[in-house]
Amino acid sequence: MAKSIILNALDIGTGSIKVLVGQKDLGTQDITILGQTQALSFGVRKGEISNPQEVSQGIVAAKEHLQKSGAAKIKKVLVNIAGSHLYSLQSQGLVSVSRADQKISKEDIQRVLQASRALNLPSNKEVLNVFAKEFVVDGEGGIEDPLGLEGIRLEAKVLLVCAFSPVLENLGSAVTEADLEIEEVIPSPLASARACLTPQQKELGVGLVDIGAGNTGVSFFETGKLIDFAIFPLGSANITNDIAIGLRTEIVTAERIKKEFGTLSFKKRKKKGSKIEIPEKSLSFSPKFLKDIIEARVSEIFSEVQKELKKISKQNLLPGGIVLTGGGSFLPGIVEFAKHKLKLPCRLGPPRNVPGIEDLAFSTCCGLLLSGFDSRERGRERVFEEGMGAKLRKLFKMFLP
Ligand SMILES: Nc1ncnc2c1ncn2[C@@H]1O[C@H](COP(=O)(O)OP(=O)(O)OP(=O)(O)O)[C@@H](O)[C@H]1O
Ligand SMILES: [Mg+2]
Repeated sequence: MAKSIILNALDIGTGSIKVLVGQKDLGTQDITILGQTQALSFGVRKGEISNPQEVSQGIVAAKEHLQKSGAAKIKKVLVNIAGSHLYSLQSQGLVSVSRADQKISKEDIQRVLQASRALNLPSNKEVLNVFAKEFVVDGEGGIEDPLGLEGIRLEAKVLLVCAFSPVLENLGSAVTEADLEIEEVIPSPLASARACLTPQQKELGVGLVDIGAGNTGVSFFETGKLIDFAIFPLGSANITNDIAIGLRTEIVTAERIKKEFGTLSFKKRKKKGSKIEIPEKSLSFSPKFLKDIIEARVSEIFSEVQKELKKISKQNLLPGGIVLTGGGSFLPGIVEFAKHKLKLPCRLGPPRNVPGIEDLAFSTCCGLLLSGFDSRERGRERVFEEGMGAKLRKLFKMFLP
């Protein structure tokens, strides 16, 4: 008999907190959204939780809003982690195959992944996720799944995702103070990639750029595997701040101007000479003045993306191109601008496979939900992509009264 799973995704962003409650029918594979909410976020700076108490109040408000709209009470969440404290490291592990018949077992795979995360990290840093890139059995590489193969030496080449422990602790206390339990912690760029990229793009080689309010996350894939990810402390809120300074106006007005008149489009919006007027704020400025402010900041964001492409030697070399998502990608003309700047095919990437949700700002939240369904369907025991879920659950339970 077909069953269904209900999961809750919580995206704690710099600009807003977003929650999705989704149900997946394991028979038909259909996903239905049972609840959705978005509320202003406080206590998050450049993607990192700086004030857990404020964040926790925001989560409680979002929970209450969901319940008022008729959704069931939520208890466990899949939650994101962001901020430029997150970084990736290449690593490898090596173990001897343990069984007498030399067949590689699940335990051997777990041991080799465990060995690959045994690094000498500073005491305030920890490994959050381990992504296996390939396994090597007796020197034979390129193996995706070594389970059941015969061999003596098993090696794993992995990408580790590392985090700054105090930020993880802040995340733990913000969520548990809101009376919720953490089911899994997923870095935002990886969640967004899960929601916005197709398996074909990942196979070809692709980069995802999620421009949020306070930070921009990038993740790169090749032959279906994650090869790199990074987070920069720059986002669309920086554009708003620049507009506020440039026009000597308050943030709320600058945000409104950005959304209403902001564009990177090369085409002229207005006839030459015509000005944008905001009479109630006594503002009058040329579209070019606004475009120049926006362009400088967006250019800075794409320079960071370009640096990361250079780091992994993929400049002009991603056949699947660059996919833009996150609320910052709503800016008109950003796709053309990115193409011009990065010299790669670029397109917008709204979340896929979550019926009814195509909002660029909901990509991380959709990705959390989809990743949660993936983990549940694979079974609780995750073999090739070790998460910190279990460890964090224990850790966070200690915060509970
Ligand atoms: N139409 C629009 N034009 C320009 N910018 C927009 C538009 N709509 C939303 N934005 C910007 O998108 C940003 C919010 O995006 P998003 O919700 O993805 O960020 P977040 O997840 O809260 O933050 P972060 O991921 O950085 O922690 C805001 O800075 C907002 O001004
Ligand atoms: Mg975000």
